[in-house]
Amino acid sequence: MKSIEEIRNEIESFKIENAETLEQFRLAFLTKKSDIQALFGEIKNIAPEERKAFGQVINELKDRAQQRFDENKEKLENAQSAQSQIADVTRPSNTVSVGSMHPISIMMNQVRRIFEDIGFTSVTGPDIEDDWHVFTALNFAEEHPARDMQDTFFIELHPDILLRTHTSSLQVRTMEKQQPPIRVICPGRVFRNEAITSRAHCIFHQVEGLYVAENVSFADMKQTLLYFAQRMFGPEVKIRLRPSYFPFTEPSAEMDISCNICGGAGCNLCKHTGWVEILGSGMVDPNVLENCGIDSKKYSGFAFGLGIERMTMLKYTTNDIRLYFENDVRFLQQFKSATK
Ligand code: DAH
Repeated sequence: MKSIEEIRNEIESFKIENAETLEQFRLAFLTKKSDIQALFGEIKNIAPEERKAFGQVINELKDRAQQRFDENKEKLENAQSAQSQIADVTRPSNTVSVGSMHPISIMMNQVRRIFEDIGFTSVTGPDIEDDWHVFTALNFAEEHPARDMQDTFFIELHPDILLRTHTSSLQVRTMEKQQPPIRVICPGRVFRNEAITSRAHCIFHQVEGLYVAENVSFADMKQTLLYFAQRMFGPEVKIRLRPSYFPFTEPSAEMDISCNICGGAGCNLCKHTGWVEILGSGMVDPNVLENCGIDSKKYSGFAFGLGIERMTMLKYTTNDIRLYFENDVRFLQQFKSATK
C-alpha cells in the first residue's frame, strides 16, 4: 500500500492540463477505489488512540485532492468558454451606443443640400472679423445702432476686431475675391451681446445666401425662397414677404412661412397669426456691390440670411433655444432618426 507521504506527493505533482488529465486525476484520487479510500479502510487496523489523528490526516488528503480537482475544473471551463466566444463568429456583437448628430448640424446640412441642388456652393469664413466685413462694406452708417457695444462683442484692445454678428460678412469676402456670376451659401456661427432667454442666445447660427449675376430680379429671389421653404417644410407651405429694412439691401423684405404647427389656423407658436418669420432678404444694395469691387450697373443680386436655431425650433417644435447649447443627451438622443 502507498504511504500517506507518497499519495500527498502524487496529488501535488499530478499535471492537470486538459479534460482528460482532469478525469485521470479524479479516477486516481476521488473514487471509491482510490488509494485514499484504501487508507480509510485501514483505520480499523490502527491503534484506537491513534485513529483520530490518522483519520484527520487522510481527511486532509482527500480534501486537498478535491480542492485541486475543483480549481482545475473551473480553470478549464473558463478557458473553454473564452475560447468558444472567440470561435463563434455568428454570435451577435455587443451593442455599440451610436451617437446622433446635433440638431443644429442636421439643419445646417439640410439647408446646404437644398441650395446645393440648385447650384449654390457652400463657403465659410472667420468668426473673428473686422469692422469692414461686418459693417462698413455692408453699408452700415457710422452711427448705426448695431455697431453699439450692446449688440456686438468687440475685442477690447482692437476696437476694429469683433465677433461677427451675422454671416453677411461672407457676402463681402466672397465678392471681394470673385466676380459674378456668384451663387453661394455661407453657414456659420454668429455672436451677439444679448441676454440668454428661451428665445434668444448670445451664440447662434445663420446661413447667408448670395446670388449676383446679370439681370437678377426680386422675382428670382422670391422663387428661390419659395423653393427653399417648400423643400424644407413641405409642398403645402406658403411664404409671405413683408417690407423691411437692412442697410445692405434695397428693397428689403422679411419672409414668413405659414405656421407648420397649426397649418395657418393660429397657435401659440405663431402667436395666433398663422405666420412665422424665418429669414431676412433683399436685393443687394448697389453700394455694397461697389464696395466689393463689382460693377453695380452691370450686375444685380439678391441676398438672404436665415437663423438656423429658429428654423430648427420650428421644424422639430422645441420651445427653448437653450436646449441646443446644453447638450443634454436626453434631448439630443431624440434626433437619432433625423441624423441621416
Ligand atoms: N444679416 C441679417 C441679420 O443678421 C439677415 C439678413 C437680412 C441677411 C437680409 C441678408 C439679407 O443677406 O439680405 O439679421
